[in-house]
Amino acid sequence: MSNFNVAIDGPAGSGKSTIAKKIAQIFNLYYLDSGALYRAFGYYLKKKNFDLNNENDIINALKTFNVKIINGDYYLFDEKLDFQIRTPEIGKAASIVAKNPFVREKVNEILRNIAKKHGVVIDGRDIGTVVLPDAEVKIFLTASIQERAERRYKELIGKGKNVKLEDILKDIEKRDKADSTRKIAPLKPADDAIIVDTTGKNIETVVKEIKNIILNKINLE
Ligand code: CDP
Ligand code: CDP
Repeated sequence: MSNFNVAIDGPAGSGKSTIAKKIAQIFNLYYLDSGALYRAFGYYLKKKNFDLNNENDIINALKTFNVKIINGDYYLFDEKLDFQIRTPEIGKAASIVAKNPFVREKVNEILRNIAKKHGVVIDGRDIGTVVLPDAEVKIFLTASIQERAERRYKELIGKGKNVKLEDILKDIEKRDKADSTRKIAPLKPADDAIIVDTTGKNIETVVKEIKNIILNKINLE
């Protein structure tokens, strides 16, 4: 395993998880999906019929919340988390609970504990700014909102989901706004992040671009 860290931040549909997984493979790093942890917590609250906006409910749920990561798969107790946390509804729930500082503390602790043991690629919103401010490489991925919505739409349609492009677009717009304007750990590039606009670029092109950025950075240090 390599021993440097890569932070990949950006809005929904910018390609973070797709690119982060490939970069982790290329450089032999451990891949962590921070959004999956916020989604898992939102999913847990909903399952328990707790109120996402109620601070007491959140604090109670945090006492028992237990996510394990085994071979890259995320488990809520014994339940393997997969499509059930990838719905627009759970995306919204994640964005609501992500405003809570105790939830963020819990997620950050899980991520940092793993990053102590391995070189990691973590994707999210605040990895370069808050979670790993000393990461050797910080990338901020972006793309036009239209393209990001189309990517998500194609992905859901491909999985047989019955969704409308305009709903996805509205949903992403709302989540972008909530994530960028919240007081705590808002979505924004770190001062030393490299911004990569992926509009009109396929996955292979973006992976090549980021691979080169990493090679340049790591050689310089
Ligand atoms: O994959 P997508 O970009 O749609 O979302 P995600 O990365 O799974 O994150 C879901 C939600 O969790 C985001 O809209 C954020 O509100 C929150 N999140 C966060 O606040 N900080 C992170 N590091 C990662 C996700
Ligand atoms: O994690 P994030 O929400 O930023 O995006 P993702 O889940 O990695 O990517 C969303 C969708 O866009 C996936 O279906 C990717 O295959 C696709 N994608 C693409 O078509 N072109 C890119 N340059 C990046 C991602």
